[in-house]
Amino acid sequence: MSKQVETIGVLTSGGDAPGMNAAMRAVVREALFKGKKVKGISRGYAGLLNEDIFDMTASDVSETIARGGTKLQTARCTEFVDPDVQKMAAEICKKHGIDALVVIGGDGSFRGALALAQHGINTIGVPGTIDLDIACTDYTIGFDTAINTAMEAIDKIRDTSKSHDRCTIIEVMGRHAGYIALWCGIACGAEDILLPEKYNHNEQDIINHVIENRKKGKQHHIIINAEGIGHSASMAKRIEAATGMETRASILGYMQRGGIPTCKDRVYASVMGAMAVDLLCEGKSNRVVAYKNGEFCDFDIEEALAMKKEIPDYMNYISKSLV
Ligand code: ADP
Ligand code: F6P
Repeated sequence: MSKQVETIGVLTSGGDAPGMNAAMRAVVREALFKGKKVKGISRGYAGLLNEDIFDMTASDVSETIARGGTKLQTARCTEFVDPDVQKMAAEICKKHGIDALVVIGGDGSFRGALALAQHGINTIGVPGTIDLDIACTDYTIGFDTAINTAMEAIDKIRDTSKSHDRCTIIEVMGRHAGYIALWCGIACGAEDILLPEKYNHNEQDIINHVIENRKKGKQHHIIINAEGIGHSASMAKRIEAATGMETRASILGYMQRGGIPTCKDRVYASVMGAMAVDLLCEGKSNRVVAYKNGEFCDFDIEEALAMKKEIPDYMNYISKSLV
């Protein structure tokens, strides 16, 4: 059991996600409510190393819950994998009186959090990524907003695809994970959904599907392609050449990372941010806040990082059976 914390630092790290501000706000407000001091750290671990650290008050987080992006800003800080750099970062925390830290980010950020915990900084991770690719949790901050943003865009592209009797490949984010593709694909009734975890790289299967559907009378065809598979433009050319169906590609890109967070992202992020502070106040460290099987909970960071996540079989099945 660690000693009582007095000053809680908060940072956002890795790719930004809508709802990170709601989580930051909850950390600040819950910590102040519990009589703790709060220090914000700009630009993730890069800002920590640059000592870009400042006191935070309740009013500093006013009007943030509904804002996309991250007011604390974020960064990828490659040197943070270096054990000497991690030790130095822990010393910087101590120098600034930060005895506890909330890290809002993904798996990579949690590895940094684990290192800081090992150097005596009580650290809690809060899952923030649009990719939903954190194994210990069924929810990550930003996913709900991102899939709704992508879904609306896909619905619009579907209108023009249908009007022109086209095949359209829509590439959504997810360099290593297909959750955005799977959810948007099901939500939009896509004819094919290509997931990095499942794709067999046999384009002929897609071509056959387009041809079969045409024979059945389907006049247009939507393919949701995850960023991790990529090559949407060249894939479109090959599909057009093989099927004779006019084919276009649209890459949705970074719009999926921005925008006003949904109600779910605001509320879940608020719960998770507050829980992180409550865990610290209970003397806990080296934990990740999660949402699993319908409940908010927490896991040891190392155990959380060792967990594996798989595309749910039944969702994968219906993504094919319902179209
Ligand atoms: P995410 O947190 O969304 O997974 P990244 O993988 O880019 O995003 O990680 C964010 C940051 O976390 C990195 O820029 C780096 O500062 C830190 N980080 C990533 N991997 C490690 C690691 N193995 N050890 C320590 N810090 C890490
Ligand atoms: O935030 C997650 C994500 O969108 C991934 O899908 C993608 O791999 C990555 O971020 C790309 O982010 P960046 O270009 O900022 O490194």
